[in-house]
Amino acid sequence: MSDRYAVIGNPIEHSRSPEIHTLFASQTGQDMEYERIPGSLDDFASDVRRFIAEGGRGLNVTVPFKEQAFTLADERTERAQRAGAVNTLVFEDQGIRGDNTDGVGLVRDLGCNHRFAFAGSRILLLGAGGASRGVLFPLLEEGPAALVIANRTAHKAHALAALADDPRVNGCGLDTLAGQHFDLIINGTAAGLAGGVPAIPDDCLAGGGWTYDMMYGRKPTTFVRWGRAHGAVRALDGLGMLVEQAAESFFLWRGVMPDTDPVIDTLLR
Ligand code: ATR
Repeated sequence: MSDRYAVIGNPIEHSRSPEIHTLFASQTGQDMEYERIPGSLDDFASDVRRFIAEGGRGLNVTVPFKEQAFTLADERTERAQRAGAVNTLVFEDQGIRGDNTDGVGLVRDLGCNHRFAFAGSRILLLGAGGASRGVLFPLLEEGPAALVIANRTAHKAHALAALADDPRVNGCGLDTLAGQHFDLIINGTAAGLAGGVPAIPDDCLAGGGWTYDMMYGRKPTTFVRWGRAHGAVRALDGLGMLVEQAAESFFLWRGVMPDTDPVIDTLLR
């Protein structure tokens, strides 16, 4: 029987992870199956234990279970610890290992696939929830000159900035960005789910600046459209990040790193 993996979330029907991992498996010749599990909102741990009992080898974890996966893991990697959330579970004889590949996924998509020059850049990170926390530390490792976390509820941005404990990082409310300009604006808010964009000044993207929406969709997301309308040289969505975080999870499970380019191309078609 093939080794079993899955993505667990709620809702989960629209996840593209099964498509991605199936492409990785056929590209690398790995004998595995990858399915979707609709997680129950009140008993995530039982869903995971059932999958393990059925022979599951690993899980990707998505909204809203990443914090619960963090708690459930017996052992966590340093990057999961810093993210405060787990998106990849590896089931081993010794127990459940939790990791987080979201941050590396974002950094690889921007830096390797699209060649964004992080060093010395000024980055604006919108939102102070789990999505932003998940990418904060990996972004800082790329050497930006400054990283501002701006959130609708200012105190959460201050708290996340305090957690970073890095002189390059500041937290603020969305309403105090006037007069500041950024080379890269990353949207880590949930505003797009309701068809909106965070209320930021029209001119906060510097000349030559890029925008990145951690969300993705079959059509351009609202934040991709914001970027295009505000002069972004590149206005990217999170599809590349999704594929890159998946590749890193695949590597953790199978010890083989798939080639992401052809998979991104296939998904875009
Ligand atoms: P996630 O784990 O996906 O980050 P979350 O922890 O609920 O989810 O965080 C959602 C983020 O989107 C928060 O930063 C939230 O801002 P608040 O802290 O002020 O709630 C942000 N957000 C949601 N809707 C928004 C909107 N319409 N405009 C701006 N920010 C929004």
